[in-house]
Amino acid sequence: MKAIAVTPGKPNSVHLTDISTPKLEDIPNGRGVLVKVLKVGVDATDREINDALYGNAPIGDDYLVLGHEVFGRVEAIGEQVTHVSPGDYVTCTVRRPGASIYDSIGRSDITSEETYYERGINLLHGYLTEYFVDDAEFIVRIPVGLRHLHVLAEPMSCSAKAIHQAYEAQKRLQVWEPRTAFVMGAGQIGLLATLILRLRGLQVYTFARGVAPNLKAEIVEGMEATYVSTRERSIAEVVEESGKPDIIFDATGNSSISFGAMEHLNLNGVLIWTSITGGKDLHETPADKLNLEWVLGNKMLIGSVNANFRHFEMGIADLALGEMTYPGVIEKILTHPVEGLDNYAEMMRLLVEDPDALKVFVNVADDIE
Ligand code: BGC
Ligand code: ZN
Repeated sequence: MKAIAVTPGKPNSVHLTDISTPKLEDIPNGRGVLVKVLKVGVDATDREINDALYGNAPIGDDYLVLGHEVFGRVEAIGEQVTHVSPGDYVTCTVRRPGASIYDSIGRSDITSEETYYERGINLLHGYLTEYFVDDAEFIVRIPVGLRHLHVLAEPMSCSAKAIHQAYEAQKRLQVWEPRTAFVMGAGQIGLLATLILRLRGLQVYTFARGVAPNLKAEIVEGMEATYVSTRERSIAEVVEESGKPDIIFDATGNSSISFGAMEHLNLNGVLIWTSITGGKDLHETPADKLNLEWVLGNKMLIGSVNANFRHFEMGIADLALGEMTYPGVIEKILTHPVEGLDNYAEMMRLLVEDPDALKVFVNVADDIE
């Protein structure tokens, strides 16, 4: 079957390849789920892997099949599988157990060692192919009423995990009633975080560079949040209007913004970092001032990556509530379809070059009604 792969370590090596079709029996103990891939989303991680900044092939292979945001349909299940049936829409989690102490409790999303395994990213093949098989433990059902949001389940799980972690950690305060959140960045993770925070009842300001009207502003406003172009208003100016935010969610991929956000957080607040910067940039930071304010203000910083089965479920529940609350808004994120695995070059071109491509995804196969 066809697959889109890279040669890790070699820049711009994205290519089409042929791999063997997986079988249900590849997964032991009757726990296999064989899935036909319908759509796969791609993001900056895939771009960085193709730039050879990131990613490793499975041991023994010299290629890595890309793709970690999958939407598919169950073809067949092993005899021990009960939570999905043939015909169901599903997605699949990304990170897999290595040798971490967290693995035995189903927390392979939690990092406790340097080597980690992520499908389509590190040491495991991804989903940009025609079929895949995996253990039922990692297969998450997507309700039929959300099939139009397909590949958003995985990015949503990352936003859901990060916010859930922040709320869990804030139990340290015993009483915490967050009112205002700033979301830095209006890519898919920032927009989905905007949704989750709005559904929690917060007043949300979402910051991006572009000047409204534009699609990002339309989506943010569709979720009854406030869009701020940083070309028009500084963070400090917004703080004058809104007060200091209790939550700042950073999804910019810009470390000067990640650190700069520290100056604006409210007392007892939480700053969540979800994006990464692979470079070597240095920035000046008012270190003494921040040290003083953060200690005296009981402030907290959380880094959050990946997501497990439960976070996928949380994210999917919020996609459903979001769809009921703001009908038709979430799907506007899904901007750029690419037809078929053969069009891998177009997929990468959109990811690299098109500033309007909020979300690129590949239509791998047609859905059968
Ligand atoms: C993926 C996560 C993954 C992270 C780091 C992101 O693009 O969505 O699942 O853990 O990259 O590899
Ligand atoms: Zn991703």
